Amino acid sequence: MTNRVVVGAQWGDEGKAKITDLLAENADLIIRYQGGCNAGHTVVAHNKTFKFHLIPSGILYKGKTCFIGNGTVVLPEYFQQEIEGLKKENIDISGLKVSPLASITMPWHTEVDGYSEDNATKGKIGTTKKGIGPTYTDKMQRIGLKIGDLYSPEALSEKLDVILPVKNKQLKELYNLKTYTKEEVLDLCKKYAEIFRPFVCHEWQDMLRDAKRENKTILFEGAQGVMLDVDFGTYPFVTSSNPVGGGACTGSGYGPKVIDEVIGVAKAYVTRVGEGPFVTELTDETGKKIQDIGHEFGVTTGRPRRCGWFDAVTMKYSCLVGGLTSVALTKIDVFDTFDEIKICTAYKDKRNGKTYTSYPEDVFIHKYLEPVYETHKGWGVNISDIRKYEDLPENCRKYIERLEQILETPISIISVGPDREQTIFRTNL
Ligand code: GDP
Ligand code: IMO
Ligand code: MG
Repeated sequence: MTNRVVVGAQWGDEGKAKITDLLAENADLIIRYQGGCNAGHTVVAHNKTFKFHLIPSGILYKGKTCFIGNGTVVLPEYFQQEIEGLKKENIDISGLKVSPLASITMPWHTEVDGYSEDNATKGKIGTTKKGIGPTYTDKMQRIGLKIGDLYSPEALSEKLDVILPVKNKQLKELYNLKTYTKEEVLDLCKKYAEIFRPFVCHEWQDMLRDAKRENKTILFEGAQGVMLDVDFGTYPFVTSSNPVGGGACTGSGYGPKVIDEVIGVAKAYVTRVGEGPFVTELTDETGKKIQDIGHEFGVTTGRPRRCGWFDAVTMKYSCLVGGLTSVALTKIDVFDTFDEIKICTAYKDKRNGKTYTSYPEDVFIHKYLEPVYETHKGWGVNISDIRKYEDLPENCRKYIERLEQILETPISIISVGPDREQTIFRTNL
């Protein structure tokens, strides 16, 4: 029994779902602890590609409990769509459960997200427009609805009497958007109650207690990534939750001592979707080559992902604040045809020559920073069929071992392709 958290170590889309799916085989309880349908998670298994947004990536194995935890935000219609998709694929969803404490994304949340993004003249974030920020804002402002409220007419009615006057004033005066009557919202909530009824787990406390008592293996699945964390990421160009390892506790109901390991998933390069600083971004042919070979287009929005060389400065930071005990390095096969591969080991301030080897939290100076690179030789062979570490070409191993040395964190998993089988385990996980 080793309980693990899978965390994105960069700006999301690192291949977390592939790693979660792999580790889920030996887990009993898989908990998605934050985020919502802003996530786009891809698993390739049985020659098929599955895309998940809210549903934990462990769902492909029968007999597992997949729990959507209290730290998440759930857009009911999207959740329903995802369920229907899984049913069509004949995937057993009998183990799927949702926390009554998870927050509901209401129509006004997506409307406000869309409005804010479309009308931003300055400070655009480039969100997924799935209502994530506005839902978490209302949760923190204590004017949000939780899934459990849908089954308590009294709580729902009392809450709406508080929420709606505030919300309607905001919608009308700040955004010039449609307002809502209590009847309309109660009707919506009736519909939502039916969507969640088969999945809402009112007995979640017993479920968590039993799993702990019976030494079940628990796997915590993070969405997004450390650099998108609302506390530690490139704020304000971040999401609105805590993808870091610590988020697994506040988003699940388990304390820190339940967790044995935190695996940070990182690509052998870096990508980012949406706005925000990105010191190693490549806007040239090399960036385009990474994007083409790595198929770097968003799962949720289809947007092209910005690409750049591996940034060891942010990754070192990510190892610290993400609480990583090891790293899963993915997509290293993308470099098979590259003559040279670079690692950014420091940033240099163009204005004064100041060098940073630790991540500078003031993201507004990042535009003045240029990457300091060390260059490694490529390996020039296809590694996607290799399954043993010692069979990897020497230059590939050198690159991996150099990263390990800089990060002072072991690289426990190496992924050489999207498929489950295309994986090299360096330790017995
Ligand atoms: P997530 O959001 O972190 O789960 O990652 P995404 O699913 O958004 O993006 C990762 C993409 O890379 C998916 O299309 C995966 O199938 C693919 N992928 C994962 N690992 C590897 C790998 O080692 N090599 C290659 N070539 N593709 C991979
Ligand atoms: P997975 O789990 C990559 C980015 C958005 C935007 C910022 C805020 O697949 O790694 P939001 O809609 O969350 O308010 O947008 O965060 N973003 C992601 N980028 N992968 C994701 O999820 C992301 N989820 C949000 O592009 O820059
Ligand atoms: Mg993704």
